[in-house]
Amino acid sequence: MNVPFLDLKAVYAELQAEMDAAVQRVLASGWYICGPEVEAFEAEFAAYCDARHCVGVSNGLEALHLILRALGIGAGDEVIVPSNTFIATWLAVSYAGARPVPVEPDARTYNLDPALVEAAITPRTRAIMPVHLYGQPADMDALRELASKYGLALVEDAAQAQGASLRGRRAGGLGTAAGFSFYPGKNLGALGDAGAVVTNDAALADRVRVLRNYGSRVKYEHEAQGFNARLDELQAALLRVKLARLDEWNERRRRAAEFYTQTLEGVADLTLPHVPTWADPVWHLFVVRHPERARLQAHLAAQGIGTIIHYPRPPHLQPAYAELNYTQGRFPLAERMADEVLSLRMGPHLSEDAAQYVVEQLAAFAH
Ligand SMILES: Cc1ncc(COP(=O)(O)O)c(C=O)c1O
Repeated sequence: MNVPFLDLKAVYAELQAEMDAAVQRVLASGWYICGPEVEAFEAEFAAYCDARHCVGVSNGLEALHLILRALGIGAGDEVIVPSNTFIATWLAVSYAGARPVPVEPDARTYNLDPALVEAAITPRTRAIMPVHLYGQPADMDALRELASKYGLALVEDAAQAQGASLRGRRAGGLGTAAGFSFYPGKNLGALGDAGAVVTNDAALADRVRVLRNYGSRVKYEHEAQGFNARLDELQAALLRVKLARLDEWNERRRRAAEFYTQTLEGVADLTLPHVPTWADPVWHLFVVRHPERARLQAHLAAQGIGTIIHYPRPPHLQPAYAELNYTQGRFPLAERMADEVLSLRMGPHLSEDAAQYVVEQLAAFAH
C-alpha cells in the first residue's frame, strides 16, 4: 500500500465543483485584490473564531509580523517565543526589529511552559507569543494571567490551529490577537500563500488593515510606512469554500487521531501525543517520538508510508540565528524533539485502511 504524507489532490477531488465555481466567479468579476471575497471571508472567519475582527493578509508570517508592528513592538523589545517551533514564529519578531527570547516547552504537551515563561520575563519583554503546536492549544489561561500580571501582549501563533479550542473557546480569540496561516497543507488551506489576523480589538485590527496596504487607508495617502501584505480575491474565494467544511474535516482528523492513539498505545518506545483535559486540538499533525527515529522513518518509507519531521533543527541552531550566539545544549528539550519527532499521515482524507496499515507497520517495527 502507498500512503503519502499529504494528499491535496483528494481535497480538490471532494470540492471540485465548488472550487471551480469560486474561481470562475472571481475571474469573471474583474476584481482581484481586496474586494468582496476578502471582505466576506473576513466576516466568516471572524465569526468562526468567535472573534470580532479578521484582517486577511498574504501569509501567516506576515500576520504575526503585522500584529507585532501594530502593537508598536520594535527595536530594543523582547518577545517570548517557543524554542520548539517553525522558524516563522521567530522571524516575525525579527521582522519587527525586536528580539525573540526562546523558552522551552512543557515536556508532555510540547507547548510553552508558563512557569518557564515567567522566569524569562525582563523589563524589555513586551509580548508572549505561544504557538498552538501541531494544532493543540497552548495553556492560554495560565499565559493570559502572566500577560496581565506583567502588562504584556499575548499573541497566538495559530498557524496550525484553525478550529482548535480551549475550555470551549476557539483559538483566535484567546489573547490580544492571533496570526493564522492558510498555507495549502494547513487544516484550512488556500491554493497558494494566505493568512489572517484575528482579534477582538477594533483599534488593533484597524492598524493591521492599514499596515497590510502600504500604510494607506485612502488611495495615495500614507499614514505609515506600511507593507504590501494583502490577501487576494482568488484565495479568499477558495478559503470560503473550504471554511464551510472545516468543522467536518477537523472531526475526521479527530477520529483518525483517536484511532492512532488507541491502537498505538503501548507500542514499544513510541511516545504518543498528550492532550490535557482542557484542550480540544484539531490535529494539524499527529506527532510521535521514537529514540531511533531515522531507522523508524526508513522502515516506514520502505513500506510505502510517507512521514515528515517537524522540525529537524530548532531555530536557535539555525545559521539564520547565529547572531544570538546560542550553542548546542542551550535548549535541550527542543533539541531532543528535533532528534525524535516524526509526523504520521493525518488529514480528512486518511482512509481507515491506510490508518490501519500505518499502525501495523509501526507495530511491526517495534517487534
Ligand atoms: C507555527 C507556524 N508559525 C507561522 C507559520 C507561517 O505561516 P506561512 O507559511 O503562511 O507564512 C507557520 C507555517 O508555515 C507555522 O507552522
